[in-house]
Amino acid sequence: MSSNPLKALVYQLRHEAAGIVSVELRPVAPATEFAQTVEAGAHIDLHLADGLSRSYSLTNPGERHRYVVAVTLDRASRGGSRYVHGQLRVGQTLSIGGPRNHFALDEAAPRSVLLAGGIGITPIYAMLQRLVALGRPAHLIYCAASRETAAFVPQIQALSAHSGGQLSVDWHFKSERGVRPALDALLGGQPEGTHFYCCGPLSMLDDYERACAQRDPAHVHLERFGAAPLPPAQTPETGYCVELRKSGKTVRVEPGVALLDALIDAGMNPDYSCREGVCGACEVKVISGDVDHRDLILTKQEQAANRSMMICVSGCRSGNLVLDF
Ligand code: FES
Repeated sequence: MSSNPLKALVYQLRHEAAGIVSVELRPVAPATEFAQTVEAGAHIDLHLADGLSRSYSLTNPGERHRYVVAVTLDRASRGGSRYVHGQLRVGQTLSIGGPRNHFALDEAAPRSVLLAGGIGITPIYAMLQRLVALGRPAHLIYCAASRETAAFVPQIQALSAHSGGQLSVDWHFKSERGVRPALDALLGGQPEGTHFYCCGPLSMLDDYERACAQRDPAHVHLERFGAAPLPPAQTPETGYCVELRKSGKTVRVEPGVALLDALIDAGMNPDYSCREGVCGACEVKVISGDVDHRDLILTKQEQAANRSMMICVSGCRSGNLVLDF
């Protein structure tokens, strides 16, 4: 959900690989552009049907005339990918939110190593295009079940071929290699100053975090597109009060109730999408309060700085919270 949704036309649906389609969205009014240019690593929210809202990474950095996302058909889908694959049609109008970027590329890095698992290639593919356009050295490790289920393989091969040797690729298709990639070896031995990026399934992200544990956290970037269930945020036994500075309201949050739901129940209209602390749609600036950060987006340093919080999963340990909302 978003308080400021945009309207977009489903302009094209394209088969990218087995079980993966890309969705090209354009402004509803012909010959117009979206207000924001696509940044590598950014995502948008698609508001699909009956309150169903999902975040998807954009694949086309530098463009404003269209937003392109790729969606894999997830067998465990709670509705989002099933809707896109089964019901979405060219010519339909969708509400969208964003773009937002919690997985930004450091364009000044002397070298970038990017690890993609399955559909996690979508933000990584956008980064590769940008790095090649900038002439920056980059290495991609692309893991997928098979070549047939891997999106953007021909496009990445063409990018590499035209990169003047700046982009190298290590393909890891399980059907061909039979084993999981040895991340310690693949990510090791990189020169000082290298930035690392990973987007993929939770098991890959865990391995990646372990393999990068000794590196400068400012050089280790990741994006999650689904989360293991998070433990509930701690709240005082008596609940807490939230003062909403902009709207001049005070809302009470009872124990066991998500701050997001308390605001919705109070008639507010906060942005949200994943409800899992992974998309950033519900981020709100914090003015004061002892926030119990439970999201998977902010770094530990950002959580300690306490300048903002994800209200879908995070709560407040003290009796009062003041938000810039
Ligand atoms: S709704 Fe996605 S982080 Fe809160």
